[in-house]
This record gives sequence, C-alpha cells and structure tokens, in this order.
Amino acid sequence: MNLRKSICAGLFLCAVISADFGEESIFTRHFAARNFVAGEITQAELDAVLRAGVHAPSANNRQPWHFTVVRSQELAGEMIPNLVSGNIVIVVSAPEDTIKNGRGILDCGLAVENMYLAAQSAGLGSRIYTGPINSVNQKLKSRLDLPKGYSAVALVRIGRITSPTDATSAASPRQPLDTKVTYK
Ligand SMILES: Cc1cc2nc3c(=O)[nH]c(=O)nc-3n(C[C@H](O)[C@H](O)[C@H](O)COP(=O)(O)O)c2cc1C
Repeated sequence: MNLRKSICAGLFLCAVISADFGEESIFTRHFAARNFVAGEITQAELDAVLRAGVHAPSANNRQPWHFTVVRSQELAGEMIPNLVSGNIVIVVSAPEDTIKNGRGILDCGLAVENMYLAAQSAGLGSRIYTGPINSVNQKLKSRLDLPKGYSAVALVRIGRITSPTDATSAASPRQPLDTKVTYK
C-alpha cells in the first residue's frame, strides 16, 4: 500500500472510530447509571477504563491525576452508600496546589469523563460523584493511601448494569441547545 492509500485508510478508520464514539457514548450512553446489579468487573475491563483516563488531555500535558482503584467493598461503601457487590470506585486525586489554582480540577475532570464514557461504551454502568469528596479528604485520605500532597477531586463508580441502555430511559433532561449557546 502506498503512502497516499495508507493515509486515506487511516483517516477513514479515524472517522469510523470517532463517529462510533460520538453516537454510542456521548449521545446515548452519557447518562449516569442507576440500575447497578451485582457482578464482577474483569481486570481487562478495568484496564480499558484506566487507559482511557490516562489518555485525557491536560494543560501543558502535566497529567496531574492519580487513580486509586478501590475494590474493597467496605472502603468503597464508606464513600458511596448503596453500592452493589462488585462495584469499583476509582478515586481521582491531584496535587493540592493544582486543585487550588483550578487546573488540576479541570484536568481531572477530563480524565473522569474519559473513564466514564469508556466504561459506558464497554456496556458497563458508570456514575461520577463529587458529593462525598470533602468527607473522603477529611476522613479517608490515609486509608486510601493517596500520594503525598494529593487530595481527591472526584470518584468514578463502575459496575454491571441490567442492560447497557437502562440509564437512557431514566436520563435527566438537558436544557435546549439554544438556551446555552450565543453566536456573535
Ligand atoms: C461532576 C459531577 C458530580 C456528580 N456528583 C454526584 C454525586 O455526588 N452523587 C450522585 O448521586 N450523582 C452525582 N453526579 C451525577 C449527576 O447527578 C447526573 O449526571 C446528573 O443528575 C444528570 O443525570 P444523567 O447524567 O443521568 O442524565 C455527578 C455528576 C457530575 C458530572
């Protein structure tokens, strides 16, 4: 295959992948999972989710995030009530100075969204949590063994759901695009 054909094939593949990512993940599977059911997450599934996280973009490519994978149901249950057996909670943390200046929060948010969409694309359920963050930072930092000088920014819960589309039927409405966009 010559160079031109290789480039065309590559562009076609990228278009197919991005079209699939857009339709499957952003518009149909972006809703927070509700109907978690008991069931284990395989290491391969977890790795795919974590890989999506480390591929997020970040300011100056600083990649400030750290992911603490909590498989212990006891510890995870102290962060998120009503967990279902087999759920995994990923604690996303960043250096405290980057949280104070806001950059770490945005960068971690991008990693969180990548993991959330990767999990939902793989047919798993996922939900993002920031409600418990103050309590996590006040009470659980040492038990979570967060890197020195880091604080938690968000939690990503992943688990099995009744079907990949269950969340869609229960999705919260979004405000209309024309109320959110201004053209100048
Ligand atoms: C940054 C962020 C923080 C969130 N924190 C929580 C939380 O603490 N507890 C919770 O039950 N859901 C939490 N959620 C889920 C949202 O409540 C949910 O995404 C929103 O209500 C829209 O619902 P939908 O995604 O199902 O359409 C959070 C979502 C985001 C993006």
